Amino acid sequence: MLATGYLLLASLLGSTYAQSSPWEQCGGVGWAGSTTCVAGWICTYLNEYFSQCLQVSSTTPPSLTSIPGAAPTVGPSRDTGKLPALGWNSWNAYKCGISDTVVYAAAVNIVLLGLQDAGYEYVNIDDCWAETTRDPTTQRIVPDPNKFPNGISDLADQIHALGLKVGIYGDAGTATCAGYPGSLGYETIDATTFTEWGIDYLKYDNCNVPKNWTDTNPPPGNDWYKSNSAIRYRQMTAALVAQPHPVQFSICIWGDANVWTWGARVGHSWRMAGDSSASWSYITSIINKNSQYLDYVDFYSHNDMDMMEIGNGDLTIQEQRTHFAAWCFMKSPILLGTDLSKLSSTQRDVITNPELLAFHQDATIGVPAKPFQPTADDTTTSNPPEFYAGASTKGTHVFIINTGGGTSTMTFAFSSVPGLPAGSNYVVHDMWVGKDLGTFSGKYSASVASHDTAAFLITPA
Ligand SMILES: *[C@@H]1O[C@H](CO)[C@@H](O)[C@H](O)[C@H]1NC(C)=O
Repeated sequence: MLATGYLLLASLLGSTYAQSSPWEQCGGVGWAGSTTCVAGWICTYLNEYFSQCLQVSSTTPPSLTSIPGAAPTVGPSRDTGKLPALGWNSWNAYKCGISDTVVYAAAVNIVLLGLQDAGYEYVNIDDCWAETTRDPTTQRIVPDPNKFPNGISDLADQIHALGLKVGIYGDAGTATCAGYPGSLGYETIDATTFTEWGIDYLKYDNCNVPKNWTDTNPPPGNDWYKSNSAIRYRQMTAALVAQPHPVQFSICIWGDANVWTWGARVGHSWRMAGDSSASWSYITSIINKNSQYLDYVDFYSHNDMDMMEIGNGDLTIQEQRTHFAAWCFMKSPILLGTDLSKLSSTQRDVITNPELLAFHQDATIGVPAKPFQPTADDTTTSNPPEFYAGASTKGTHVFIINTGGGTSTMTFAFSSVPGLPAGSNYVVHDMWVGKDLGTFSGKYSASVASHDTAAFLITPA
C-alpha cells in the first residue's frame, strides 16, 4: 500500500518537478523527485536506493598501475575507529555544491550548536572536491581551486584548530561516482597525499570498477575476503596503515560482496546498502536489513546504515527520533547530512540526546542492541523487528519501534528481555527525557506513537 502510494505520487508529480541537476539523485526506493536529468546527463541506476544523473559520455579512465605481489592482508589501524564515528558529511545536503566555506561553516556549527560537546567530531568532505585529472607529474589528486582555493590541507588545519577531525572521500575504482579521479592502482600515492593534508577519515566508494575487478561468482570456498571487491579495499587498507597518522577507514560498498563477513579485517565500518534517502521506507528497510547482521558489530567493527537525513525532506519528528535511536542502538556511524544552521531546537535535542549517545559511544560494551521476541502474551514483533534489547555500562536497555500507522500500546514481559538480571520489580527509566517512570513487575506497556521509538533503561528495583 505504502510503496504503491509512493510510486503513484512519484509518477503523478514527476512531470511537475524540475529535472535533476548533474550528479543529483534521480531515483531509488522512496524517491519522489524528478526521474530525468538535464540535457547531456543520463539517469543511471547505481543500486536499489539510488539512481544518479551521470554524464552521457565520460572521459577515458586513467590507465591502471598494478600493485605488485600478493594482495595485502594487513588489518586496519587500532588507533582509531574503536567506537562508531560521530560527525557530519557534506553529501546529503550539498551534493557537488561544496566549498571550503560550506565545510568550514559546518565545522563551526558543530561547535556553536553544542554538537562537539555531545561527542560529534568528524567533518567529512564527500565527492566532487577534486579536479577531474591528476597532476601529470606527481600523479597526485589535485583539490579543485575554485572550491578549495587554499587547498584541503589549509582547511584541515582550520578544522583541527576547532578541536575537530577531517574526513575525505575516494573511490576503489577508476573514477569516483561523480567522475573525479579514483584511487584503484594509486592507493599509496593517495593515502600519502591524504595523510600529508592531515586527513583523519576516508570514505571509500565503489563506483567505476573495471570489469576484471568485479565479482561475478562467489570466490573459492565462498570466502568473500578473497573476492576482487575485498582486495580493492585491502589495497587501500595497506596504503593507509603504512602512513604515520591513523586514518579511520569507511568501506562504502553498499552491502555488496558479503562485506559484513570481512569488513572488520579491512576497515572500521562498512555500508550495508545503497544511499540513504529522507524517507520512512529507507529507514525501515535499512533497520530490517541490519537487524539480521548485528552479530558482526563490536568495537572497531561497525555496520554502516549510511548518513543521517534529519533536517532533510519531510520526515515526521517521530520518524527522525527512530532514525537517530536505531542508528544509536545498532551502533552505526552517525554522520549528520544537513545544513546544521537550519536544525530546529527539537531536532538538536534529538541528535544530542545524552543517554542514547552514551549507549552508542559506550567504551566498555561494544555490542549493539539486538531484536528479541516478547513472550506469547506480549505484543508480537513484526517486520522489521520492533523490540530490541542490549547492555551498556548503565544496565539493560529496551528499544521499541512502532512501525504501525497509529499510536500503539506495546508490551513486553521483563522475563523475555535477554540479559536482564532476575528480579521481581524493575525501575523503568525513559532515556529520551532522562527520568524514571516508576517501579513495575511482570510486564511493561508503553504507548508509542506511530513511527516513534521508545528507549528505556531497566534495572532491578
Ligand atoms: C585487471 O586488469 C588490470 C590491467 O590489465 C591489471 O593491472 C589488474 O591486475 C587486473 N585485476 C585483476 C583482479 O585481475
